[in-house]
Amino acid sequence: MIDNENLPILIQTEHLIKEYGSGGTLVRAIRGIDITIKQGEFVAILGKSGSGKSTFVSLIGGLEQPTHGKVYFDGIDLSTLTEDQLAEIRLKHIGIVFQHFHLLESLTAVENVELPLLIANYPKHKRRPIALELLDRVGLKDRAANYPAELSGGEKQRVGIARALISHPKLILADEPTGDLDSATGDKIIDLLVDINQDPSWRPTIIMVTHDVSKLRKGMRVLTLSDGKIIDDRHFLKDSDLEIFDQFGVPSEIVGMEQLT
Ligand SMILES: Nc1ncnc2c1ncn2[C@@H]1O[C@H](COP(=O)(O)OP(=O)(O)OP(=O)(O)O)[C@@H](O)[C@H]1O
Ligand SMILES: [Mg+2]
Repeated sequence: MIDNENLPILIQTEHLIKEYGSGGTLVRAIRGIDITIKQGEFVAILGKSGSGKSTFVSLIGGLEQPTHGKVYFDGIDLSTLTEDQLAEIRLKHIGIVFQHFHLLESLTAVENVELPLLIANYPKHKRRPIALELLDRVGLKDRAANYPAELSGGEKQRVGIARALISHPKLILADEPTGDLDSATGDKIIDLLVDINQDPSWRPTIIMVTHDVSKLRKGMRVLTLSDGKIIDDRHFLKDSDLEIFDQFGVPSEIVGMEQLT
């Protein structure tokens, strides 16, 4: 276990609120979240369907704008940035891993991985070695020239992770990265993410949404969302910490409280 106490703050939210629609059709997806996440933390977000997990992650990554409240990324108030400045922060500092992989079928594995560098105008001789090294890191050195259709689900997700790592981001966002994988393959993807998070020369912050309590690992900070609010925030340090979560990741003592109200 690495001690997170003295690490700098990477993300801070201030009374974050996100509403969709208006009037009679108003959906209050995020209802006031104040949280601090440090560089190097591995944060797992649990909660039932519709509790606001994806919305929360999109707000943190600057993919969506809050209705009220603020997101600070590395001390920068994202609401003060132009679209171009925001795009640059996302490109340089935030890697995103998707549930359905989002690979381009017409590109090989290595071409998919280097795509963000292509967008950033890196010449091929510079981006190719970086992409190949990352494919090696995720265990896919020999599949660089294969197209997504020739890869298994787990291999596709490894390509997705390598692509998310290409800019050496401070933050990796992963919304249900194991949702399309069988349990054993998903476990290997989690092990890979933990390994990246623990890399002493890097320590990226990882924020991962999951439905699956079995994907939690010791050392993770576990946030539980319900109705757009964080109803529980704890570190998973010992096996008995796991026992309090039900199948949706809601701590049983809180389920009990909800039933009373
Ligand atoms: N673009 C949108 N327009 C309107 N409502 C939305 C939009 N996106 C999300 N919502 C609503 O906001 C709430 C939170 O959605 P969100 O996708 O964040 O939930 P989630 O916890 O990620 O759910 P799941 O586990 O099913 O992925 C839901 O009630 C959803 O219907
Ligand atoms: Mg979601």
